[in-house]
Amino acid sequence: MPPSHPKTADNLVQLGRPDRVEGRHVNMPLELGSTNVFDTLAAFEAARDARYSSGTMYYGRYGNAASFKLEAMLAKLEGADNVTLTSSGVAAITMALMAFARPNTHLLVADHVYGNTRAFCEGVLTTMGVEISYFDPMIGAGVADLIRDNTCAIMFEAPGSGTFEVPDIPMITKAAKTAGVPTILDSTWATPIFCQPIALGVDIVVASMSKYLSGHSDCMMGMIACIAEHTAKIRKTTFAFGDKTGGQEVFLALRGLRTLKMRMEYFDRAGRDMASWLLTQPQVKTILHPAFESCPGHAHWARDFSGAAGLFSVVFQPCSDERVRGFVDALHHFGIGVSWGGYESLVLPVKPQRSADTWAETGQLVRFNIGLEDLDSLKADLAAALPNLNTAAE
Ligand SMILES: Cc1ncc(COP(=O)(O)O)c(C=O)c1O
Repeated sequence: MPPSHPKTADNLVQLGRPDRVEGRHVNMPLELGSTNVFDTLAAFEAARDARYSSGTMYYGRYGNAASFKLEAMLAKLEGADNVTLTSSGVAAITMALMAFARPNTHLLVADHVYGNTRAFCEGVLTTMGVEISYFDPMIGAGVADLIRDNTCAIMFEAPGSGTFEVPDIPMITKAAKTAGVPTILDSTWATPIFCQPIALGVDIVVASMSKYLSGHSDCMMGMIACIAEHTAKIRKTTFAFGDKTGGQEVFLALRGLRTLKMRMEYFDRAGRDMASWLLTQPQVKTILHPAFESCPGHAHWARDFSGAAGLFSVVFQPCSDERVRGFVDALHHFGIGVSWGGYESLVLPVKPQRSADTWAETGQLVRFNIGLEDLDSLKADLAAALPNLNTAAE
């Protein structure tokens, strides 16, 4: 194991690497395997009894040398006791929720959460007898009033990945800790490069590694980072469901992580540049980008984050859905697709789902993922497509 460095840039290069034998490869090999074999029954039994700990070679479903290296690397980056890899970001969210949800409990969920988090709450947790209450992500300390004796967890996102409100993380975690309720935060947008939620009091951080962490749209994976108190529960739940990452995914994630810091720093600059340019366009009503004052929770972002990802939304002046379709279809550099955080630019109209409040914005919401293309090419593409939004011609 190489020495662990205090600097993130050094950790991204040095951690998750092969053991220091002479003549070693630079990278961990692509590791595939199901059965692990032992020479004595005693060694087998010792591995079986320790199978929930990251680092125990017992059977492929529990991990292998490469996945354990990746878990340790991510734990270091997140400042967590432990990281458990999952088969997708959705699996990270659902496994974390399943670790705490029990019949006749109550779950608090921020109203801006990712659509599939909401779908899991509605489609699975409610059928198990879990009562869900949605709350305004900007509620801050007010969340204390919503906590009940049977509240099993608080699930939120920072920022929401469609509407970009940045909650007051320390206020929410303070209220939760006072009541003894665990907090689960989806921090996919910020990555550990721009936010350290555990240092802000969050108990469990979940993230889709299919996005920035792996970074090239070729890998499906998730991770759950948590404090020591919850490690056994998270790992036992995940393994009880048989959730598992593939060897190729682990390889790709380790490879993608090496460039995470420089990619995030670029996306921070490029995203702000594109958002500033879009603000000058007559079709734009407002920008929902945490680094801009127009974004709810901008002050929380400025206090708790050290940068901004390249994913943000634009509210265009009110116009028909047909005009939005015309605009999106006219773009050449922006692919139309879900997910984000790879090297390619993406665009997607967003229709926010709300339960605690209604989405009051009258304009059309469109989300952009800024990739690594030339910024002038992206601006020229947008400039050519934006007139499709003009209502004067209607
Ligand atoms: C905020 C957020 N969390 C989690 C996920 C799910 O990740 P995955 O696609 O890896 O399951 C997504 C996917 O779009 C997301 O936007």
